[in-house]
Amino acid sequence: MTKAAPKNFRVKSFGCQMNVYDGERMAEMLSEQGIVPAAEGEEADLVVLNTCHIREKAAEKVYSDIGRLRKAGAKSGREPMIAVAGCVAQAEGEEIMARSPGVSMVVGPQAYHRLPQMIDRAVKGERVTDTDMPAIAKFGALPARRKRAPSAFLTVQEGCDKFCTYCVVPYTRGAEISRPFADLVEEAKRLVDGGAREITLLGQNVNAWRGEDDRGRAVGLEGLVRALAALPDLARIRYTTSHPNDMTPGLIAAHGELDKLMPYLHLPVQSGSDRVLAAMNRSHTAQSYVRVIEQFREARPDIAISGDFIVGFPGETDAEFEETLRMVDDIRYAAAFSFKYSPRPGTPAATMDAQVPEAVMDERLQRLQSLLAVHSQAFNESTVGKRCDILVERKGRRDGQWIGKTPWLQSAYFTGDAEIGDLVTVELEQAGPNSLAARRLGTVDA
Ligand code: 5AD
Ligand code: SF4
Repeated sequence: MTKAAPKNFRVKSFGCQMNVYDGERMAEMLSEQGIVPAAEGEEADLVVLNTCHIREKAAEKVYSDIGRLRKAGAKSGREPMIAVAGCVAQAEGEEIMARSPGVSMVVGPQAYHRLPQMIDRAVKGERVTDTDMPAIAKFGALPARRKRAPSAFLTVQEGCDKFCTYCVVPYTRGAEISRPFADLVEEAKRLVDGGAREITLLGQNVNAWRGEDDRGRAVGLEGLVRALAALPDLARIRYTTSHPNDMTPGLIAAHGELDKLMPYLHLPVQSGSDRVLAAMNRSHTAQSYVRVIEQFREARPDIAISGDFIVGFPGETDAEFEETLRMVDDIRYAAAFSFKYSPRPGTPAATMDAQVPEAVMDERLQRLQSLLAVHSQAFNESTVGKRCDILVERKGRRDGQWIGKTPWLQSAYFTGDAEIGDLVTVELEQAGPNSLAARRLGTVDA
């Protein structure tokens, strides 16, 4: 059955920052095709569900979203055209097509630049799946960036060759690839021209990025960071997510040398137990990880450290979990993300013996999160009294109030003269559990 060509669209992104980036690029591409973003509350003719497969019953969430969309459509007599994108599409594309007749398109993370052609076919009544994984073709085929926001994402590297035994990423995002240096500098310039003052470089293993600079020299991530730091109107650079084994002395040193490189490092460790780390195939030890953090602190003493943790990996004993708690005490994280182990179909850990009971995982997660909260509060309190800049991202709830991020990626708010995109110098005055109160001292520049 043929369908009306969609006039407006909505992209709903779940999961990581790279999905946010992909969602923005899909939106830019659809806009280029003359399909307009649906206003808030407005029904869209085309809905793209940009899914995440990393944990939990993500696929179930997709099916219930599809169900909800179809029900709403049946009620209003306008069933939307549905595209499932992202990592669930990559991992379970065939199943989605078989189970959900309402889905017109399944498009993997490396194929979404072909969405316009897929829509043309869907309009003719075809159901289209594209989960090919051609390395990097996507970026060259996407339209130029148009995003206007003070803080922007820029994907520099995609995919993963590490094969941690719990993780789906190597299967859904494919092998590690680096985008070319010149393309990245070009995209960064466009973002800055569009108003970005901060760029966060994204990659599943962002510090594995490799390229050739404008003089043909082989460079790592620090080379790219240095090139971007030379863009006069770019004030802040961040990057995420790094792997401990891809860390280089050059990148560590850059934190001591470049004011624009923000004092924040997200470095997942997952566990403090060497036995568990080996079973996870992390290929680093607790000690080698701690050593990397120490080097960052030598280069940049005030650096905020953040990490990822998994509790209840198959076979994790109480004593091994205690090792994780000891590591947390050792490192004193400024921020962290912690998760219960979730078996992912097709990964080696999913079929390992000694899966940890849910109740044990619950208890461990709660203990870990309480400890992490203590450290993060202590970190925030340690910044009270400091002067720093806040990059203003949005208005606060109260009149005249503004919210933005400190160099250490804390949310902070102040009252006074400002606009979105301003860098405002403040003194941090009080640390709450989710944000800091600050006093405005002045604007850095207009
Ligand atoms: N179960 C729980 N957490 C996971 N992560 C990745 N895979 C799983 C899984 N199967 C977590 C890791 C990773 C973060 C992005 O998600 O901590 O660093
Ligand atoms: Fe997943 Fe490990 Fe690769 Fe990170 S390094 S994306 S956790 S396989």
